[in-house]
Amino acid sequence: MEIPSLNAILAFLAVGGGFLFIRWRLNPLSRIPTVGGPSIPGLSILSTVNFLRNSKDLLVQGYEKYRGSTFKVALLDQWLVIVSGSELVDEVRKRPELSLATFLEDIFQMKHTLGPDALGDNFHVPIIRDQLTRSLGSALPEVIEELSIALPQCIPGTSSDWVSVNVSHVSQKLITRASSRIFVGQPLCRNEDYLKIALDFTMDVVNDRLTMSKMPDFLRTPVMSWTSSTRRSVARSIPLLKPIIDQRKALMEEYGADWTDKPKDVLQWVLDEAVPRNLSDERVAMRLHLVNFAAIHTSSNSLVHALYDLGAFPEYIQPIRDEIESIVAVDGWTKEGISKMSKLDSLLRESQRIHGISLISVTRKAMADVTLRDGTFLPKGTCVAAATWATHYDEGNFEKAAAFDAFRFSRMREAPGQGTKHQFVHTSVEYIPFGHGAHACPGRFFASNEIKAVLAFLLVNYDIQFEPGQSRPDNIFIAENILPNHDAKMLFRRRGTLELH
Ligand code: HEM
Ligand SMILES: *[C@@H]1O[C@H](CO)[C@@H](O)[C@H](O)[C@H]1NC(C)=O
Ligand SMILES: *[C@@H]1O[C@H](CO)[C@@H](O)[C@H](O)[C@H]1NC(C)=O
Repeated sequence: MEIPSLNAILAFLAVGGGFLFIRWRLNPLSRIPTVGGPSIPGLSILSTVNFLRNSKDLLVQGYEKYRGSTFKVALLDQWLVIVSGSELVDEVRKRPELSLATFLEDIFQMKHTLGPDALGDNFHVPIIRDQLTRSLGSALPEVIEELSIALPQCIPGTSSDWVSVNVSHVSQKLITRASSRIFVGQPLCRNEDYLKIALDFTMDVVNDRLTMSKMPDFLRTPVMSWTSSTRRSVARSIPLLKPIIDQRKALMEEYGADWTDKPKDVLQWVLDEAVPRNLSDERVAMRLHLVNFAAIHTSSNSLVHALYDLGAFPEYIQPIRDEIESIVAVDGWTKEGISKMSKLDSLLRESQRIHGISLISVTRKAMADVTLRDGTFLPKGTCVAAATWATHYDEGNFEKAAAFDAFRFSRMREAPGQGTKHQFVHTSVEYIPFGHGAHACPGRFFASNEIKAVLAFLLVNYDIQFEPGQSRPDNIFIAENILPNHDAKMLFRRRGTLELH
C-alpha cells in the first residue's frame, strides 16, 4: 500500500474540518451566543473545561449580558441553553414540549444504569408529592424520635464541653437516618449497611455518569451491565430489603389495599404501585434508591449551608431558638408547631437563595422543536435551564440581593395578605431553588419539614459556633453544582434541655 503524502493528509483534514464547520454553522444552536469560550467543533472542549471551573461567573456574566434572551454554556457532552429573566423562566416552566423527566434521564443517563423504566413511568413523583406530603403530620414525631436517638450517637460527649464536629458528616448521618425512617420505617432505618447504601447512591449515579461520558452511546449499555456502581448498590440492598418486601406483600395479599396499621412509608407506597405492575424486587429497590438519590444529598447539603450561615451570623441563633422553644412549649414537636416557626423558615429560604445546591434549575429537554418568545429556536433534543444563582442575586428580584438577611422573608410575611407567599416551599419566577411550575420539586414539603425539624432539634439541644477566628468556608462550584465545604468543623455543646435517648 502506498503511504499517502503529507499534502493528501492535509487536504483530507481540511475537507473534513470544513465539513464539520459547515455542519455546525447549519445547526440552529450555533446561532445562540456561547458564554465561556469557542463553540466550533473541536474547540468547544475549551468551553467545557471553562464551565467546569468557572460556572458561577460564566452564568452571572451571561445572565447580565443577555437579559430577556438566551445564551449557551458547554456541559460534558452537550450544550445547555440558559434563559435569562422572569418572562422566559415563566415560558420554560409552562411549555408542554419541554420535559423535566427527559432532561433528568439525559443528564444522568439512567436508562443504562437503572433500566428503561427509571423515569419513563415515574410513579414515585405523585407518591412524593401527594402521599408523602399528606403524611407529614404523622411523620414529624417519628423524625423527632429518630433524631433523639441518632444525635447523641453522632455528636460525642455528654458533658457541657465544646466538641469539634464535622458538619457535613453529622448532617449526612441525621438526614439519611430521619429520611429512612419515613422511607422504609423501622428497623431498617437503623441498619448501618442500608444507611450507607442509601447515602452513597447519589455518588454511584454520578460515578456511573462520569464513566459513561468517556464512551460512545452504543458502548454504554454493555459496559454498564458489566460494571456499574448503581446496579451494584441496588443488588447489595436486595438482601436487606427482601424480607421486608416479602412480609409487606403477604399482608397485601391477605388484606388487599388497606388494613389497620398499614405502614405509611415510601416503600409501602412503591409496593402499592409495583405489585399491580408485577415489578421485580430489584425494580422496587431501584425505585426506592431513586427517591434516596433525589432526597438525601439535596437536603443534607442544604442543612450544612444553613448551619454554616448560623456560624457566620451567630446573632440569629437566639431569636430563632426563642421562637422554637415558645412554640414547642405550646404545640409540642408537631407539624403544626414546625409550620409556625417563621424565623426558621425564613433562615432556610434565605440560605437556599444565597447558597443553594445548584446554579441551574427549571431544567428541561425539548421533546419537539420550540421557538421561545424572544425568538430563540431550540431544536428537538436541546437542554434548557434557568440560571438560579444569577436570578437570586438579581437586584431587580431582591432588595440588597447580595446581602444575607436571615429574616428578610419573615418580615415580608408580616405584611397583610403575604402569609404564604414568602414561605420556604413557595416558588416563583424569582425564587427557583426548587424549580418552578407543575414540575417543581415534589419533595420540597417533606424537605422543608425535615430540615426544619433537624435544625430546630439541634438548636434546642446544642449551642453551635465556629472555632474562634474561623469564617464561613467557601462553597465549591463544579459545573452546575454548588457544594458546601465538606471538611469544615463547628463546635457543638450540649444544652441539656431535652431528654435524649
Ligand atoms: C432542599 C432539598 C431539595 C432541593 C433544593 C430540591 C430541588 C429540586 C429541583 C430543582 C428539582 C427540579 C425541578 C425543576 O427544575 O423545575 C427537583 C426535582 C425533584 N425532586 Fe427535589 N429537591 C430537594 C429535596 C427533595 C426531596 C427530599 C425529595 C424526595 C422526598 C425530592 C424529590 C424530587 C423528585 C422526585 C424530583 C423530580 C420531579 C419530576 O420528575 O417531576 N427532592 N428537586
Ligand atoms: C467530613 O465528612 C464528610 C462527609 O462524611 C467527608 O466527606 C469528609 O472527608 C470529612 N472531613 C474530614 C476532615 O474528616
Ligand atoms: C410476573 O413476573 C414474573 C417474573 O418477573 C413472571 O414469571 C410472571 O409470569 C409475571 N406475571 C404476570 C402476571 O405478568
